[in-house]
Amino acid sequence: MACSRRYINQEEGLLLSQKCSHRKVDICLLLSYYVPLSFAHAYWPVGASTRFYHFKVQTLRVTKLCQTNDIVTVNGKFPGPVIYAQEDDRVIVRVTNQTPHNTTVHWHGVRQRLSCWADGPAYITQCPIQAGRSYTYEFTLVQQKGTLLWHAHVSWLRATVHGAIVVYPKTGVPYPFPHPYEEHSLVFAEYWHKDVLRLEEDVMSSGGGAPPADAYLINGSPGPLYNCSATDVYEIAVVPGKTYLLRLVSASLNTEHFFAIADHRLTIVEADGEYTKPLTVDSLVIAPGQTINVLVQADRPIDTYDMAMAPFMSARNVPFQKTPAVAHFRYSGAGPEAPSRPAEFPAFNDSLTADFALSNLRSLNDTGVPLVVDANLLFTIGLAVEQCHSPHPNASCRGPGGGVFAAAMNNIAFVEPTVSLLQAYYDNTNGYYTEDFPGFGSRVQLVLQNTGTVGTENHPVHLHGHSFHVVGHGTGNYNPTTAQLNLADPPYMNTIGVPAGGWAAIRFVADNPGVWFMHCHLEVHASWGLAMAFVVKDGNGTMESLPHPPADLPRC
Ligand code: C2O
Repeated sequence: MACSRRYINQEEGLLLSQKCSHRKVDICLLLSYYVPLSFAHAYWPVGASTRFYHFKVQTLRVTKLCQTNDIVTVNGKFPGPVIYAQEDDRVIVRVTNQTPHNTTVHWHGVRQRLSCWADGPAYITQCPIQAGRSYTYEFTLVQQKGTLLWHAHVSWLRATVHGAIVVYPKTGVPYPFPHPYEEHSLVFAEYWHKDVLRLEEDVMSSGGGAPPADAYLINGSPGPLYNCSATDVYEIAVVPGKTYLLRLVSASLNTEHFFAIADHRLTIVEADGEYTKPLTVDSLVIAPGQTINVLVQADRPIDTYDMAMAPFMSARNVPFQKTPAVAHFRYSGAGPEAPSRPAEFPAFNDSLTADFALSNLRSLNDTGVPLVVDANLLFTIGLAVEQCHSPHPNASCRGPGGGVFAAAMNNIAFVEPTVSLLQAYYDNTNGYYTEDFPGFGSRVQLVLQNTGTVGTENHPVHLHGHSFHVVGHGTGNYNPTTAQLNLADPPYMNTIGVPAGGWAAIRFVADNPGVWFMHCHLEVHASWGLAMAFVVKDGNGTMESLPHPPADLPRC
């Protein structure tokens, strides 16, 4: 075809996908998709291994707090299996759906270099995997190591379909901190007795907020503060004098949490799978989707200490579960009958303490912050209340003042499409996106301004397919002339808690072609519309084109 790469380059752009608009057909661009993946591979850092997993999404009968329910999990485990790999490894996960519900799996924080088809959000990069079907996700952990998580990315299924991803450095490469004696993952979740798909339907049709969780869980256990749970406690056996690495993973659905260990301090060494300068705190806040690695010294008197997660709630008038989930940090030699030492927490709405870690986190190494930006964007994010238009307001307008909860980015509420946006884009289907974004490789600064007309609360905003440098954040309205930006050593993250009534500024390079979801990781806010997607077009170089879709990509 007489269609040169130079011409393709002129057509490149990063698009915004929120509301319908049209897009002109660009055959040259389409052709550029057919760069075979194997061609691209030649330039990737070659990992030592390929890791294969088979995830069977199944229904499992569990008893928690003396009630027996069926939940959806993977391979009969709750939380699901850990994906172990090393930096630059190829990971192949065949997901088989053995439930009657639609499912997908998202590899949260995996940057999915040239593998957008494996990203996983339903109706963004794929149609769901239907009952009885399988789909094989394949991606390479290009220059990624640390703790991440995987979770279902359709409806509210991730409440129970989730697990940790642990990526070790390459063989022979040490951690940039004293080698821990042991490592443990702690996966945080919220648990409802009610089927979570019903829960979602009920919340969405009520127009009101989400009911509080029936319990919080640490590695599937609520701990002794809950009814009927005296022995349903996760425990780490500790050797006095040793250092432990805890990989904290928040798979919570709608609530952010404080985490603390009684009488022990936590030294943060990694956040969202990227090393940080060590930062020692008494407690920290972890938002849904975030992962934080901490070192803990077992240097206290021999005893059993609570490791606990308690809610952080910056919004007013929102009901939430107040009982902390408790796990045990038990020194060898501690009497099994002796009461454990309780962890202490800041007030549930203590935003100052909650924001401390974020304000003080610094990346360990130079992560290549773009010093110059090509595109400067400011998006408002927040919740709102729509007027009731229902003939049955008592049933369907249970939001504040008899209205219906809504949420938006840039005043547009995201409505989940019925086709996959990536496929629509790939197939040039009109009507799903606009073309008003800067081109491939653009250095983007995005300021997220938390507005919201119904009170304000912290929104943990997650971007797929990229990590971003958190160059600044603050209270009130963003002011470009007075805002202090850290361009030297900002943390490199994938989920940023935009402070209640404040702003956060992130920078990233839009150099990974595909359609990338960006949304609040409080699931109920995303359901209300606090979401959007970026389209990043192909570049014209050898490693800059999205390959064609895999043959087993699910159909809607
Ligand atoms: Cu952890 Cu779009 O999600």
